[in-house]
Amino acid sequence: KEVRVFAPATVANVAVGYDILGFAINRPGDEIVARFNPELDGLKITAITGTGNKVLPFDVEKNTAGVSAQRLLEHLGKADVGIELEVHKRMPFGSGLGSSAASSAGAVVAVNELLGAPLSRESLLYFTVLGEVVADGSFHADNVAPSLVGGITLIRSNESLDIHHLPVPENLHVAVIHPDLEILTKDARAVLSDTVPLGTAVHQMGSLASFIVALYTNDLPLLGRSLHDHIIEPQRKQLIKGFDDVKAAAMSRGALGCSISGAGPSMFAICDSGYLAQAVGQGMIEAFAAHGINSQLYVSPI
Ligand code: HSE
Repeated sequence: KEVRVFAPATVANVAVGYDILGFAINRPGDEIVARFNPELDGLKITAITGTGNKVLPFDVEKNTAGVSAQRLLEHLGKADVGIELEVHKRMPFGSGLGSSAASSAGAVVAVNELLGAPLSRESLLYFTVLGEVVADGSFHADNVAPSLVGGITLIRSNESLDIHHLPVPENLHVAVIHPDLEILTKDARAVLSDTVPLGTAVHQMGSLASFIVALYTNDLPLLGRSLHDHIIEPQRKQLIKGFDDVKAAAMSRGALGCSISGAGPSMFAICDSGYLAQAVGQGMIEAFAAHGINSQLYVSPI
């Protein structure tokens, strides 16, 4: 028996919710295959493809997909079942698109399905987060949650995995642009200050709360006014060459908001239609090109 799973890329933070907001996009994503192999006495990663000139570890305990799947198997008392895992990377890593999260989510879904789906999607989340810790050393579910369950997710608490689905206004689309730059999440986290001035926190709370209201009330103008990151974007944007021009290109073409996807360098622009998202994305490509940077555009409904 064999199970093949697609796990989508995700946009984390969404400007106003550092470590607590994220949404899935329909492509790119990873493909994970799990199959029984009676000759093995446990989980083994037998193939990793699509990594370009990067090397990902085959050691189960060092690979985010491997760790997530292994912890799940141990929880189920199935750690001695012979299972092969294949990880086919169909998305760039170090991109801000939740590459490691997609591998973790795909791995637990594939292994769970292979075993007859003993756990629900929601119950698998805990195991994916353990895989994320291997990738960037911090325990946050803002990529794995939407990759696993889809849609926009809000995390009240990363520690207790208190996670909620948010409604999505009709026609909302996103242009996600991946420039040919690489930023490691742990480096992008290291540049952040531990403290936030009170006035800045007040602005951010207003933005986040209004963003949630806008989603619940389909108020797109409010959504646009809310999509301002007062805390993280000002500290991280210097890691992304051309950021201000790319954002200006998106906003001048009619995006509701534009910011850094996850830890970057990818950027996203939320738009009120797929037509507009495509045009906005093309403008963002041109703006990166003006800085000598090639980029790849993905347009997706949210
Ligand atoms: N919330 C995380 C960050 C997402 O911005 O660092 C990237 O893993």
